[in-house]
Amino acid sequence: MKSDADDLVVRDLEPGDLHWVTRIERRSFSDPWPKHCFLITIMGGNICWGLFAGGNLIGYLIAMPDRDRIHLANLVIDHPYRRRGLGRMLMQKLYETARLRRWQCITLEVRSSNEAAIAFYEAEGFTQMAVESGYYQGREDALIFNRLIS
Ligand SMILES: CC(C)(COP(=O)(O)OP(=O)(O)OC[C@H]1O[C@@H](n2cnc3c(N)ncnc32)[C@H](O)[C@@H]1OP(=O)(O)O)[C@@H](O)C(=O)NCCC(=O)NCCS
Repeated sequence: MKSDADDLVVRDLEPGDLHWVTRIERRSFSDPWPKHCFLITIMGGNICWGLFAGGNLIGYLIAMPDRDRIHLANLVIDHPYRRRGLGRMLMQKLYETARLRRWQCITLEVRSSNEAAIAFYEAEGFTQMAVESGYYQGREDALIFNRLIS
């Protein structure tokens, strides 16, 4: 799918993209997913979209359907491309897909220290539903968010 900007493309991730994905993942998280987790997720029929600018990967969104809902497992926009509305653009595509597939809501968890992501999801209309104490290696809480699809 082509986005509004001519050189931006969103397409399904392929195993051959994973060297790019893991590089961005390591730059973005203290506990990055290893390559094999991405590979299993891609092969498992989940939503795995890559956002490309001029042919280079600059972000991705990973989400897993679960009955009438979808769990957003990973969303990253590479550092130089943040605060340009690209995360919002990938989420809009996820909402459209959710409506088409009749998923009722999107769930996710986020580190309690991840202020940028919390601000982003709140701006996207997500509501905090719960706190999972010590969810991240027993050391940090997860905030559980959801958003109904209307
Ligand atoms: C969270 C993330 C995906 C947001 O992507 P992005 O493309 O930078 O976000 P957008 O430009 O679409 O921002 C949309 C709105 O979210 C909010 N927002 C996004 N980043 C923010 C920040 N750092 N601080 C405060 N608000 C922020 C703002 O309201 C913003 O609108 P505005 O720029 O008009 O003020 C990006 O910061 C990222 O990749 N972070 C590292 C990985 C990560 O933590 N992912 C989430 C794991 S659960």
